[in-house]
Amino acid sequence: MFDKDFIFGVATASYQIEGSVDADGRCESIWDTFCKKEGAIIDGSDGTKTCESYIKYKDDVKLIKNLGVKAYRFSIAWGRVINSNNKPNKKGINYYVKLCKELIKNNIKPVVTIYHWDMPQWLDDIGGFLNDDIVKYFEYYTDVITNALKGLVKDFITINEPQCIMFMGHDACYFAPGTKYNDKEMLQAIHNLLKCHGAAVKVIRKNIPDSTVGFAPCSRPAIPSNRNNEILEEKCYQEYFDIKRSSEYSNSVSIYSDPIFLGDYPKTYYEQFKDVLPNITKEDLDLINQPLDYIYQNFYSGNYYSLDENGNLTKDKFDFGYPEGNIDWLQVVPETLYYGPKYLYRRYKKPIIISENGFCNNDVVSLDGKVHDPQRIDYIRRYLIELEKISKEIDVKGYFVWSLFDNFEWNSGLRKRFGLVFVDYKTGKRIKKDSFYEFKKIIKES
Ligand code: BGC
Repeated sequence: MFDKDFIFGVATASYQIEGSVDADGRCESIWDTFCKKEGAIIDGSDGTKTCESYIKYKDDVKLIKNLGVKAYRFSIAWGRVINSNNKPNKKGINYYVKLCKELIKNNIKPVVTIYHWDMPQWLDDIGGFLNDDIVKYFEYYTDVITNALKGLVKDFITINEPQCIMFMGHDACYFAPGTKYNDKEMLQAIHNLLKCHGAAVKVIRKNIPDSTVGFAPCSRPAIPSNRNNEILEEKCYQEYFDIKRSSEYSNSVSIYSDPIFLGDYPKTYYEQFKDVLPNITKEDLDLINQPLDYIYQNFYSGNYYSLDENGNLTKDKFDFGYPEGNIDWLQVVPETLYYGPKYLYRRYKKPIIISENGFCNNDVVSLDGKVHDPQRIDYIRRYLIELEKISKEIDVKGYFVWSLFDNFEWNSGLRKRFGLVFVDYKTGKRIKKDSFYEFKKIIKES
């Protein structure tokens, strides 16, 4: 059982669900461009139609209401709200106003993500996060959208998964825009992204003084395979926040969250990157270090660790008999929702909200017309047991399932399904999966 004020919700993102990419003056995003690249998307699909939420948003709200969750996390498409002359686009803005009104009418709290990866192409053309002016553009965009949503929305998340923006978009290059950065460029772009976050927080607080604000990174905690070994747990904690230049550092937790919550990058950052540091001023750090209300975090998976005979941390192999997600990075590690929040709370000392957690499955419509997804049910139940445990020790305020429905899963296209609701992309039909009913039951029981 969670506290009475604990919030269950579902989450989505604009490019993944809206479709209607040419409607009402929306300008092209980096994802429109990326999807056109030969071989970029595994099944050759794109976001032109997907769940058609731009048209069917009232049906979306009906589904959310029926599910019984109290909150809906969705993102705003920058290119709908701001046109390519950097001026507000009334029609695009109006879509989000209508959506929020519909949610409120149905007693569902809108939780708005300002940026979930669909940067307008024209901004990427002038350098994206590498261009120092991005901070002014982001600030202006946030100003426009928060002025429009004043009186409707109180809860904001500035940026979703900065690690994916940087690592997937500019290192591994599996995601848009797919431009490779060297170390110096990477650190500069990360620094600018953090400044965008800080500038946005200030604008949100100015325009909506009673708002709550956070940002939503992702992470993959180090999990002690033996829960009773304190030394192992301590080493896992250190590992989780550690930065090694030799590894995929753009995926780090502390490079992003330390400046935001603690006011500076970790010491190891300055040591490891001394030859490629961006220009970091006191004003920058103050801007980035805006007080936040929550630690939002997207958690899907973790890595188990043990100690070897010399007392060093070693990664375990996955062999725990849980169902497997059908996307390569999604191993089922339920303790992620125990240790992840525990570590974050210990370091940053704010209430925790799980802004995404969910399971990718090979869902099909069965002969009985239903979609049976016992693996997803198993996943959600196991993860919630762990979250409930940690909520007895620290302040945990909410949990959002990714995702309301199947949607455009970035470079994996339409083939990878994360929804509680199945979407038939040909007919547009939506079918509630077994997990939808099960999650509904969980919410009622809690
Ligand atoms: C992202 C979502 C994505 C989900 C599943 C998160 O990384 O925020 O946009 O669809 O995980 O991959």
